[in-house]
Amino acid sequence: MTEPDRIPAADLPPGTVRRVGDWAVGNRGPGPDGRDRYFAVSRLCRHQLADLSQGTVDDDGCLVCPWHQSRYDVRTGEMVEGPRGFLGYHGPTPGYTELVAAAGRIARLRVRRAVRRGDDVVLE
Ligand code: FES
Repeated sequence: MTEPDRIPAADLPPGTVRRVGDWAVGNRGPGPDGRDRYFAVSRLCRHQLADLSQGTVDDDGCLVCPWHQSRYDVRTGEMVEGPRGFLGYHGPTPGYTELVAAAGRIARLRVRRAVRRGDDVVLE
């Protein structure tokens, strides 16, 4: 079976993230040229493997993990801010947050190009 590689653009309004196979595909909203900026990154958070397709896009256009809110730059796959918690705990974790973020800058998410083609957003 082949991996799905597209999603209708209508299912991906600005600020949304959806699952397309092993990828979290989202829309950062319009860029300076007025066009929506789509992204595709590997779906498993580098912290504790949460499904990033259940995440959100923040005001900076970063992908935010649904479990402990690690933030990712979707252009590079780099974790730019570490988790706020671990396992079932949600709250401040001084030191630990920075440690995970340092690892996440090295072990980045995989990144794929996501472009609008007709009515679809296609992963290249
Ligand atoms: S699993 Fe993503 S921040 Fe913890």
